[in-house]
Amino acid sequence: MKKVLITGGAGFIGSNFVRYLLEESGGSGVQIVNLDALTYAGSLENLKDLSADAERYTFVHGDICNRDLVRDLLHQHQIDTIVHFAAESHVDRSILSPEPFIQANVIGTFTLLEAARQYWLVEKALPIEEVRFHHVSTDEVYGTLNPDDPAFSETTPYAPNSPYAASKASSDHLARSYNHTYQLPITISNCSNNYGPRQFPEKLIPLIILNALSGKPLPVYGDGQQIRDWLYVTDHCEAIHKIITRGTPGETYNIGGNNQPANLTIVETVCDLLDKLQPQVEPHRNLIKFVTDRPGHDRRYAMNISKIQRELGWQPRYSLTDGLLATVEWILANPDWVAAIQKQREYKTWMDKNYEKR
Ligand code: NAD
Ligand code: TYD
Repeated sequence: MKKVLITGGAGFIGSNFVRYLLEESGGSGVQIVNLDALTYAGSLENLKDLSADAERYTFVHGDICNRDLVRDLLHQHQIDTIVHFAAESHVDRSILSPEPFIQANVIGTFTLLEAARQYWLVEKALPIEEVRFHHVSTDEVYGTLNPDDPAFSETTPYAPNSPYAASKASSDHLARSYNHTYQLPITISNCSNNYGPRQFPEKLIPLIILNALSGKPLPVYGDGQQIRDWLYVTDHCEAIHKIITRGTPGETYNIGGNNQPANLTIVETVCDLLDKLQPQVEPHRNLIKFVTDRPGHDRRYAMNISKIQRELGWQPRYSLTDGLLATVEWILANPDWVAAIQKQREYKTWMDKNYEKR
């Protein structure tokens, strides 16, 4: 891995991965090209201290659906590794407006796979054993679990329930087929819910922190007893790095946090942390408001991570308590980031659209 194309590197996980890789690869000569369309979810705020590292890091503003641009980038930078994060990523948005999900997640992934196939397999630009396409995906492709069901494993049949999950499942199938049919060296990871620094505040944890800090209601969908398997973002970055450097082409790896509290418990924990770090007259829990549930809301996710533990020696480092504390502290320490996101018209429009009549 010398010349890495990261897609979606201005978003939450992608920007954390760019930092992780720059730090991890130190003096080893890894060069990163970050291709991002800067949708509402992508922000140069997430990367602003990196522009000085021009030798090792280049940002390109563009769309993964743009075939000519992707082809040119592969040639120009002699890309040997693609780490593909770019996607529309929010379930609630996919329910209100699914089309962008099909475009970015399905057509975008297809465009990247085709460009990689052309450059690495047809033109044989680089030795095949030196290239890798890593596709970043989600546990949501597996659907939902009943309380006593075993956790999702790599062999659990796909059963996506939201347009977001269906679009990611579709992209996973395309990636898998490019390995099976053409032997493109592909790995896929399916990861559970991430949280941590630089997450756009439409997702549960940063939304709750920012609303609580401004004294706004904390919206809990339905009865708040839905379960997710929370993973701190740098743990996800480390897992992806292990897969790229040591994983086997053609394999899928499940990644998860072994942290599975109900949503309401997460919200209450954040409130209690804020009571300590930013005490108000009233406890933050008083802001909790149960609101209309999400249509088709998956009840429970849980990941069986024994394959990646066994084969690659990865396991999460952060407990939920440490990760939530680190997340709240990061938000409190970065008021400029918060202000820049909250200033965005798209953020305000979304909050009105999703929550005003809920
Ligand atoms: P995000 O929404 O924060 O960021 C997505 C990034 O992709 C943004 O910077 C956006 O500008 C960019 N993008 C979107 N469409 C693009 C296009 N057509 N061309 C170029 N760039 C485009 O998402 P995230 O939470 O960082 O998720 C990253 C990846 O990880 C996604 O593929 C997502 O499905 C997957 N994932 C996320 C989670 C999670 O909990 N957030 C969990 C598992 C997997
Ligand atoms: P989210 O962060 O949107 O991730 P995902 O839907 O991909 O799991 O939501 C996490 C959980 O929190 C999910 O069960 C929905 C719930 N939720 C709320 O209760 N209120 C909210 O305002 C949001 C955004 C999510």
